[in-house]
Amino acid sequence: MFRAKLFVSLFFIATIFLPSFANISNFTQFYNEVLQWTAPSESYKMPVNNNEYFKNTEKTNETLDYGTFDFIIVGAGTAGGVMANRLTEENFRVLLVEAGSADPNTASVCGLAPYFLKSKYNWGYNTVPQKKSCLACIDQQCIYPRGKMLGGTSSMGGGMYVRGNPLDFDLWKELGNSGWSYQDVLPYFKKAEKAAFKSNTDIEYRGYSGPQVVDTVEDTPGLTEMLFQAFEELGDIPRDYNGVNQLGIGRVQININKNVRSNTAHAYIAPAKSRSNLFLTLDSLVTQVITQNDRAKGVQFVKNGQFYYASASKEVILSAGALNTPQILMLSGIGPKDQLEKHKIQVVRDLPVGRFLRDLVCYPGLIFRTNKMFYELTLEEQLKLWYDGKRPLASGWGLQLVTYHSLMNSSNDRPNFEIFVLGPPAISRHLGASLHFSEEYIAALFSNLNKYSDFLITIALLHPNSTGEVRLKSNNPKDFPIIDTNFFGEESDLEILYQGIQRLIKIKDTKAFRSFKAELLSYPMPGCDEIYESGSRDWWYCSIRHFALSDWQPVGTAKMGTSTKDSVVNPELKVHGIQGLRVVDCSIMPTHISGHTIGAVVMIAEKASDLIKAEYK
Ligand SMILES: Cc1cc2nc3c(=O)[nH]c(=O)nc-3n(C[C@H](O)[C@H](O)[C@H](O)COP(=O)(O)OP(=O)(O)OC[C@H]3O[C@@H](n4cnc5c(N)ncnc54)[C@H](O)[C@@H]3O)c2cc1C
Ligand SMILES: *[C@@H]1O[C@H](CO)[C@@H](O)[C@H](O)[C@H]1NC(C)=O
Ligand SMILES: *[C@@H]1O[C@H](CO)[C@@H](O)[C@H](O)[C@H]1NC(C)=O
Ligand SMILES: *[C@@H]1O[C@H](CO)[C@@H](O)[C@H](O)[C@H]1NC(C)=O
Ligand SMILES: *[C@@H]1O[C@H](CO)[C@@H](O)[C@H](O)[C@H]1NC(C)=O
Ligand SMILES: *[C@@H]1O[C@H](CO)[C@@H](O)[C@H](O)[C@H]1NC(C)=O
Repeated sequence: MFRAKLFVSLFFIATIFLPSFANISNFTQFYNEVLQWTAPSESYKMPVNNNEYFKNTEKTNETLDYGTFDFIIVGAGTAGGVMANRLTEENFRVLLVEAGSADPNTASVCGLAPYFLKSKYNWGYNTVPQKKSCLACIDQQCIYPRGKMLGGTSSMGGGMYVRGNPLDFDLWKELGNSGWSYQDVLPYFKKAEKAAFKSNTDIEYRGYSGPQVVDTVEDTPGLTEMLFQAFEELGDIPRDYNGVNQLGIGRVQININKNVRSNTAHAYIAPAKSRSNLFLTLDSLVTQVITQNDRAKGVQFVKNGQFYYASASKEVILSAGALNTPQILMLSGIGPKDQLEKHKIQVVRDLPVGRFLRDLVCYPGLIFRTNKMFYELTLEEQLKLWYDGKRPLASGWGLQLVTYHSLMNSSNDRPNFEIFVLGPPAISRHLGASLHFSEEYIAALFSNLNKYSDFLITIALLHPNSTGEVRLKSNNPKDFPIIDTNFFGEESDLEILYQGIQRLIKIKDTKAFRSFKAELLSYPMPGCDEIYESGSRDWWYCSIRHFALSDWQPVGTAKMGTSTKDSVVNPELKVHGIQGLRVVDCSIMPTHISGHTIGAVVMIAEKASDLIKAEYK
């Protein structure tokens, strides 16, 4: 076990290195950078553990002193970036420890997001082999991407901005989390946001002077409007889904500042980087929080084969995300007793860390072919358009629009489904391989796609009942955590997703689709076609089990609540029973929200910053 030695031999003065932020003013230079980036992605070999950090550590087990700070934030990701900015507004010395590197210039382009799946900017996690999902993937293991760079996962996604449903937060409060009702959190959504578009916006619900920009991208000529009409024919009402009422359809709202992705690296870290009280260390893997007498004293991290210890006079804040935060807690002795004992880790606190993993599960198998070709452009031409904030690269995965449905309840309720359309040119053979699909499925599906004429409608089940788990593989921080999404562990999830697909598929018969000659593509489904009658309910179940993917929105692994039986942090986000230790990231969500998570994570961090400032004023 890697226990930090508190009797540190050397005094180490923290050397601070701040990276420069996106410089994309020279097109030729940037285009060359993009080429160097996209070409090797397909053959990139993902890591299977954290060994890279530990090279040479056997030679010296010495731990150097990195100094003392008021706060140490673990992870400069979505939440960590916000925390770093807000806490250094005050006279606090803040150390931000990030395992990844600076976000590359290419991360500024949302449309290049698919290339990040196979790159050093993704941790490289896969789920454990699944029995009821991921059947089309190699070894029945789905990929589970997480960003490893400044801005974290907000630097590698589609950029879609969704807050969730007001009832999601009211439920958090009902579960005992005072201070987290929609009325309580709305001011923080507004504080974070700079809405750059005015049309079809519920103005009084939106923020206009925050750091993170939200905008829409121009329509894809012909396509966006046609899709809009089709969904309206199915009964969807046009809405600002981040306003008064979430249920309905809207053009996708994206965290984008003109053409540049508005991740937390750009929106929060960049403006704070010149503050003399912000200290950042990159390529630094936190292995453990050091506690003494039930108080967090600091963190141990490893960088370039050297261990360091940094001490926190006020608090350690874990913002390492829903997979790594539980791993760090458990490595520090905070977690389920049986598991810690199994791995010979001294139990500091018995808490259900990692136990309530919830995620959205989506079915990306509804692919439509049109008789039109969109964006038949070279990468260079696409990039030139991007400079003017234009499609296709301005929007991640060609995102067009989003709808929220309450399939079972027609009233103003929480939705059951999020449906989004990925437009051309989003889908390619390369994407199939990045998603870990087996050759058989790549051949059956991805090889037959036309990336210029086809679009894909994805339907995500918003509130599945299946619960997954994050566990430790061993007591060694070199090992990746074990991730079990357990999709369709509860069979009712499968049935409800099936019903959602049956409703959605009616879109093929709308006037809009027929006049556009958009047709549902049929393709072979190995493993299902031989056994079930095509289109039967059993065939659909089989297809869903093969193709359904995580929406990559894990939450709940360090749940907020009031009881130590079913939660890890209290409503102030303090770890139960430990002084000076908070969790601020996706892990704390007690139940999943109705949508993607970046908007809510940023809100959580904004609120946490205020709680902390109030406590130490
Ligand atoms: C491909 C993809 C697309 C997505 N698209 C969208 C979208 O369009 N809209 C949306 O709202 N959401 C999207 N999401 C989900 C969303 O990005 C995440 O849920 C959210 O960003 C998580 O924020 P976080 O702060 O909890 O964690 P993260 O942003 O992941 O931050 C964690 C940070 O901690 C660092 N870290 C981890 N472990 C350690 C350690 N031991 N030591 C030091 N540092 C560490 C990580 O490197 C990372 O920088 C997407 C996710 C993926 C994977
Ligand atoms: C960005 O690059 C250009 C030339 O490529 C250079 O002139 C400029 O100084 C750079 N800006 C920053 C902020 O580094
Ligand atoms: C842009 O970069 C290219 C390649 O590095 C260089 O040759 C060119 O002079 C640069 N142009 C400007 C305007 O800086
Ligand atoms: C360092 O620690 C490792 C693991 O505990 C051990 O195997 C190794 O022998 C130690 N090396 C030295 C130089 O003490
Ligand atoms: C429909 O709404 C009612 C009242 O809000 C709720 O009790 C019920 O569980 C909902 N049904 C579904 C399937 O979501
Ligand atoms: C989850 O369980 C509840 C209660 O049994 C049920 O009403 C609901 O429909 C289930 N949701 C899904 C998505 O299966």
